[in-house]
Amino acid sequence: MTNWPYPRFIAHRGAGKLAPENTLAAFRHGASFGYRMFEFDVKLSADGKPILMHDATLDRTTTGKGRVDALTLGELAALDAGGWHSPAYAGEPVPTLAAIARYTQANGFMVNIEIKPVPGIEYRTGAAVALDALSLWKGAGTPPLLSSFSEVALEAAHQVAPDLPRALLLDTLPADWLERLRRLECVALDANHRELDAAVIGAAHSAGFKVLCYTVNDRVRAANLLSWGLDGLITDAVDQIAPQS
Ligand code: G3P
Ligand code: MG
Repeated sequence: MTNWPYPRFIAHRGAGKLAPENTLAAFRHGASFGYRMFEFDVKLSADGKPILMHDATLDRTTTGKGRVDALTLGELAALDAGGWHSPAYAGEPVPTLAAIARYTQANGFMVNIEIKPVPGIEYRTGAAVALDALSLWKGAGTPPLLSSFSEVALEAAHQVAPDLPRALLLDTLPADWLERLRRLECVALDANHRELDAAVIGAAHSAGFKVLCYTVNDRVRAANLLSWGLDGLITDAVDQIAPQS
């Protein structure tokens, strides 16, 4: 990717913790603070449809119970994904990737789709999400940036949609992190911010990769990372970290 089209400030799970994560309400809340790019987590329903959900189980963020991939899209549609957060958001549905594609493109927003498979279906999830992203963002000005901690999911995405940009998520940096990025033909490293310093960012840039990180909620830390040349900062603190600063 020669022209990096993405803004440096990215809202985590929609609007971090201020609204129910991974719901359309969270995106609207993040947008109200000026955010123009959103990270969110995608996995598959029992019938193979990409939906937004962080955990492998429904219990923490919905009225459902058990594994996400035990319910069909129709069954997931009956759940409340907002009431757990606060009464103001009761009744908020679990969004499909298609709904998020419509909302973000209608408003000129960019996305970072984190492919987050439930354990055991990494390849299928990577392929299905990438294929859906390819068709949903066809003709959009800026492609979605795909990312995953699962190298199997990224490999699948690479195979079915080679032209969609990919970033490898790493919570700790293994010695061969640059080789991994090259092997998956990624455009970027997306690391836990604690793993980054000026030298790591410089090494990635010298090798031709952009650098993103999660989840930075402290303004001083954000300023330091950006001063070292960070390309994308994923934050919960959409009310504290101004997206244009
Ligand atoms: O995509 C970056 C970040 O979201 C990874 O961590 O657990 O919040 O999905 P997590
Ligand atoms: Mg995520």
